[in-house]
Amino acid sequence: MSNIFATKPLQVLLGEAHSSGHGALKRTLGAGNLLALGVGAIIGSGLFIRTANAAAQAAGPGVTLAFILAALGCVFAGLCYAEFAAMIPIAGSAYTYAYTTMGEFVAWVIGWALIMEYALGAATVSIGWSEYLNKLLEAFGVSMPYSLSHSPLESAVINGIPEHGAINLPAVLVVVALSLLLVKGTQESAVFNSIVVVLKVLVVLLFIGIGWQFVDPANHTPYLIPENAAAVKNAAGAVVREYSEWNKHGWGGVVGGAAIVFFAFIGFDAVSTAAQEAKNPKRDMPIGILGSLAICTVLYILFGHVLTGVANWREFADPAVGAEASVAYAIRAHMPGYGWLATAVTLAILLGFSSVVLVMLMGQSRVFFSMAKDGLMPQAFAKLHPRYRTPYKSNLLLMIFVGLFAAFVPGSLAGDLTSFGTLLAFVLVSVGVWLMRRSHPNQPRPFRAPLSSPRFPLVPFLGALLCTLLIVALDAFTLKVATSWMLLGIAVYFLYSRKRSLLQHGIVVVPTELEQEVVHKS
Ligand code: ALA
Repeated sequence: MSNIFATKPLQVLLGEAHSSGHGALKRTLGAGNLLALGVGAIIGSGLFIRTANAAAQAAGPGVTLAFILAALGCVFAGLCYAEFAAMIPIAGSAYTYAYTTMGEFVAWVIGWALIMEYALGAATVSIGWSEYLNKLLEAFGVSMPYSLSHSPLESAVINGIPEHGAINLPAVLVVVALSLLLVKGTQESAVFNSIVVVLKVLVVLLFIGIGWQFVDPANHTPYLIPENAAAVKNAAGAVVREYSEWNKHGWGGVVGGAAIVFFAFIGFDAVSTAAQEAKNPKRDMPIGILGSLAICTVLYILFGHVLTGVANWREFADPAVGAEASVAYAIRAHMPGYGWLATAVTLAILLGFSSVVLVMLMGQSRVFFSMAKDGLMPQAFAKLHPRYRTPYKSNLLLMIFVGLFAAFVPGSLAGDLTSFGTLLAFVLVSVGVWLMRRSHPNQPRPFRAPLSSPRFPLVPFLGALLCTLLIVALDAFTLKVATSWMLLGIAVYFLYSRKRSLLQHGIVVVPTELEQEVVHKS
């Protein structure tokens, strides 16, 4: 009889990790590097697309408050992540943390949820990429047919003509191109990464600085969406947005908006995975995590303030008006004389989004890699390319899976599912930190989350609570799809993975040096 709560013994994992050289990773990163890493991983389509989505769907100008709430959830969960990452410096992911604390079944659940974070996250950002590509082409007088750049679940009335999506080709294209790049193996050059980070931040600052003069206070009144706000209709008179549900107006709308913009913070966990490379993790990890969150939160609040001040939040509800590529829309429609800024923003976004998609596709193959090594996923996911030493089968399968989502699912749904998966992982990681404090109180912890003693686990508790609140505030349809996905995952576990699990057969798998190199590379 197998035990679905079997845990991987921590000591064995740690011992092997050190003997295989992983423990000897050079400690080269200072607080400044960690900050740059965080900010680079965080700013992406969440800010440039979902800020407007959240304003139009739930929070109105109160999207600024939604950013604060989402950031709080991230801070608490982020501290828990950092404790784990510094303590278990192996293929750092929530999946591995769970395997050592809460057992195989919970680890599986997290791994399955992480597919939503990484694979659907990659799909979401590639769909955003497609929106901004269309805007760029329009600036040059070329326009992509609506049907070839939207999912079949999307429609709009454009210039009086009803349009329906069929397939989002540009989004598929970017997924295919980046997946093939991953097969060949790429260590994103540090220089390229730094340039992209600087560009992204510069564009955000430029928009805030220049847009400030165009803010119309009338757009900020009322600040929250009133309960009786009229539905937004498209040119044909069909309702595209309505505001009666609890999470779509007033303070409930701020919580709903936080669940939507939560996406914009995903990626700061990248800082925690670098814990064992930090020169002084005790001091630098909180600076890296809290600092990058703080910088982004301030930028996001200012950005949200300007965006909802330049254009009215209702304009962001209709796809034929400002729902797509909303920042470029707001500049072109309301900031006369700044067409160049719209083009510059769009170019920086296209570049910035590509690196986010790349990192997410890599992250996914890393999780699959670990799960396949443990026997929970088919071995194909752990196969390395004979020449490139990359998990190429995994990359190619993901290319198809993510490509299908990018082609046929609307960006808002894919984005909400991404938030769901990440939030669920955050809840379980927060609980995991507390369980680990109880089960392994004397284990060395290079970084300890504050206020997290076994008897008074305030930080883990608040992390789990806030992230659960954001899950509940997601759109009802999203919750249905996400629940079905998780149920499918549980069925796969009981029908497939449990029987093939190596741990259930008494085998503890530890990554070898080569695998660690791959995992680390990805
Ligand atoms: N935070 C990342 C983004 O907004 C995922 O694109």
